[in-house]
Amino acid sequence: MAARHRVKPPIAKALIAWYRQGHRDLPWRRTNDPYHIWVSEIMLQQTRAQAVIPYYEKFLSRFPTIEVLANAGEEDVLAVWSGLGYYSRARNLRRAAIAIQAAGAFPSGYEAIRDLPGVGDYTAAAIASIAFGLPHAVLDGNVLRVVARFENDAADISSERIREHFRGVIQGWLDPHEPAAFNQAVMELGATVCLARNPLCLLCPIATWCRARQAGTAGQLPVKLRKTAPVRIDSVLLLICRRGRVLLRRREANARLMAGFWELPTPEHLPGARVRETIGTFRHSITHHRYTFAVARASAVAACDCFRWFPPVEIGGVPLSTTARKALRLAAIL
Ligand code: ADE
Repeated sequence: MAARHRVKPPIAKALIAWYRQGHRDLPWRRTNDPYHIWVSEIMLQQTRAQAVIPYYEKFLSRFPTIEVLANAGEEDVLAVWSGLGYYSRARNLRRAAIAIQAAGAFPSGYEAIRDLPGVGDYTAAAIASIAFGLPHAVLDGNVLRVVARFENDAADISSERIREHFRGVIQGWLDPHEPAAFNQAVMELGATVCLARNPLCLLCPIATWCRARQAGTAGQLPVKLRKTAPVRIDSVLLLICRRGRVLLRRREANARLMAGFWELPTPEHLPGARVRETIGTFRHSITHHRYTFAVARASAVAACDCFRWFPPVEIGGVPLSTTARKALRLAAIL
């Protein structure tokens, strides 16, 4: 009987079989073109799959090849990315496309992929496995949760050392003959079954061997000790309209965040503005900052060059901050 416990459970086989029986039909799963996979993985870094789909399709129809992307202006790339957030991703994609075009081909080894701007361990492993069939396991928050539960391991995943340990575990599970299917399967499990809250263990293809399931601890895992407390901030955005046009302000070219994006001005940008009624409020989160924005009608004379009056139809063609987009939707202008 003791020998039975030493037999390695067929985790990869069970995961891949489960994945093949049915999974979400995501557009980047119908291709192994490295350019398409790369774009999808960059978009998926900080954004849920459902939210990525329309941006992925729009991006590839506007920039169908690496050459088209490399030859596009940064402003055009940012305009297509507008609303997806974390804009350094778009800038890095364009920079990397220029480097790939100069090199003559998409890099096909893990290290060379990892060297592209904007590509970390996770993204390099995803591209290397899905586009090139290389045996690198992906490790992100979802996969950490799957492994911590499977092992019933309450070690703190905010520690780099612990994450490296889990990386070794998932790499040990990987089927080197089917790295793409394995990685997609474990991502799918983390996104649809091994959920952070209310894991759906009855649907899990590896529940038989899951130690957290046996111990009843799945809901408490993984353990993450270093949490950043949310910071709440109230702010006002000014909606200034004149003859059917809206006044927008361009962020400075050297701004630390969202340089060159168009946004609604605040009272600090226009100290002479006459602020009138508030038309509504909305919330917006960036990392651990929780903003509540009030959108107020106002009147003002635009002062410097960084302001411009936009007819609403022209707003779609420029990089627009997400907060401006939310405010203009609230005002029924977009
Ligand atoms: N999240 C990150 N990469 C993904 C992928 N390829 N499919 C679904 N979700 C993902």
